[in-house]
Amino acid sequence: MCGIIGYIGDKKASEVLINGLSHLEYRGYDSSGVALSYKGEVEIYKAQGKLINLIEILKTKEDICSKSHLGIGHIRWATHGLPTTLNAHPHTCNCKSLTLVHNGIIENYQELKEELKSKGCTFVSQTDTEVAAHLIAQEYGKTKDLLCAMQNAVKKIKGAFAFCAIHKNEPDKIVVAKRNAPLVIGLGDGENFIASDIPAIIEYTKKAIYLSDYQVGVVTKNDVKIYDKDDKLIQNKVENLPFEAIAISKMGYKHFMLKEINEQSDVVRNVLSSKLVSSSENVVLNEFKLSKEKIKKITRVQIIACGTSLHAGLVGKYIIEQLAKIPVDVEASSEYIYRDTIADENTLVIGISQSGETADTITAIKQAKEKGSHIVIITNRADSTMARLADSLLPVNAGIEVSVAATKSYMAQLMSLYLLSFYLSEQKEIKEYSSIIKNLKQELIELPNKIELITQNPQNIQKIAKKYSSYKDFIFIARGINYPSALEGALKLKEISYINATGYCAGELKHGPIAMLDENMPVLAVLNTGIVYDKVLSNCEEARARQAKLIGVTNHIAEKDKGLFDDLIIIPQISDMASPALNIVVLQMLAYYIAEYLGKDVDQPRNLAKSVTVE
Ligand code: G6P
Repeated sequence: MCGIIGYIGDKKASEVLINGLSHLEYRGYDSSGVALSYKGEVEIYKAQGKLINLIEILKTKEDICSKSHLGIGHIRWATHGLPTTLNAHPHTCNCKSLTLVHNGIIENYQELKEELKSKGCTFVSQTDTEVAAHLIAQEYGKTKDLLCAMQNAVKKIKGAFAFCAIHKNEPDKIVVAKRNAPLVIGLGDGENFIASDIPAIIEYTKKAIYLSDYQVGVVTKNDVKIYDKDDKLIQNKVENLPFEAIAISKMGYKHFMLKEINEQSDVVRNVLSSKLVSSSENVVLNEFKLSKEKIKKITRVQIIACGTSLHAGLVGKYIIEQLAKIPVDVEASSEYIYRDTIADENTLVIGISQSGETADTITAIKQAKEKGSHIVIITNRADSTMARLADSLLPVNAGIEVSVAATKSYMAQLMSLYLLSFYLSEQKEIKEYSSIIKNLKQELIELPNKIELITQNPQNIQKIAKKYSSYKDFIFIARGINYPSALEGALKLKEISYINATGYCAGELKHGPIAMLDENMPVLAVLNTGIVYDKVLSNCEEARARQAKLIGVTNHIAEKDKGLFDDLIIIPQISDMASPALNIVVLQMLAYYIAEYLGKDVDQPRNLAKSVTVE
């Protein structure tokens, strides 16, 4: 992953770089570094750990910080080499004339390293990036031109990269290159910006150029020149950036995660608006580009995603199979690839991704695309790589999600999947489900108010969070359409509190996990009235008989059953089919308050990154 940033203009480069990096921390936060250029001299500062450590160092470098108006910066999620200061970017060549930051992985770095070593290069870090720094510098030796050096070097590199490079002999420019890693150039008036993602530059400009794969660019104060893979000068479209700076503010909340949990009612309103007008009207989904005839020919659906998006996909399986009567397979993208997946032109392949940049999902989507399947992308980032691969793009518009633990993007993905399943059913003219769909539509229209009833009354969840925060393990159980809620609830808890939490379908409890149960293993059961309610209740009895502490999350519990539970969280009335959208809010809040109570770094949990652009 990692985030890169570059600035050239009249502002203090250090301030723009640090500010930009602070908005890229979601991409990694193992270490950070900047290179500041002034009259051809380049000073490099790096720090292990959070960005604050680099900020402290720069406070003591007032002189260069006030003079430098050109610089590059980096925030790291370690892939090659420990997260140490030595391995932090920027990296340089032996004579230190070339300085480079990199996001991605250079796959042939071993081979290149050997070759460069034989030419006299000495390496100081364990990173793959340092290889690129030496390689570009070698090419510079031959061409005496940074653009040409970059163009020649990238042709020798296998793998993924977004590069920003500066050279002491050409102190008026930053040269950039991209392949399979995001890179955007923000356009200002007498200044230009480079970043891995928009939040890093949105404060300064609303206009940008996206670099495509294999392109190389030269960025100066007043100009941006882009070259294609044949080194031909080309013109990229100037785009208006879709976000406001306010979208990346905490707005008074203690953490972005809490803010984003609280935004979910509006996210639902947003996703449904103009698509679901009333319960008696058909869904309007102009973004879905398959004709009615082709929809009728779909024989199977494959959903591919990672992490939280994968759990949304599992909910999608239940609703698409139930309402549109098409068999659905859901698979982790990393498993979908590297085997001969069976897909054809009658397979609908749905890629789900908050960021639209997850490397495994991109590879899986490309693989399915080659087989002629229609590709639907459900993403929060209409400007992402995945969005550009889509035959049908269903943007979910949850707004920028900053907290590493995904919350509101999950909610938006669920809403998109409901809309899609209604749409498929309606296009297939499956009349027998029209009344179920009508009721479900009404439930979704009423959902935002019910979400607010939960988010605005956190006291019970807070109390339970405090009570259970000292436990080291947790089991989450549910059945049917809420099985993914159990998985996602457990994922949220382990991500941000580091409590060992596992989600199971409740029926599986007795086939192994039950061996773990005693008074030290709390079991959280999601049970919604519906076909599996009594079954989950029996599974709760089994857990209780092993003295496990029991927490129930439910829309209804009979007086006689209340005593079974140590604690209960009652959600507003909702049907089983719509309930994952309410249950998950409770589970997100529970995870949040436990982590907060434990004093964890909620928005930036250890070892994680929000956008995983390496396979
Ligand atoms: C990372 C994030 C998760 C996310 C997953 C998939 O692991 O920490 O929160 O669910 O990537 O990301 P995507 O952007 O494809 O949804």
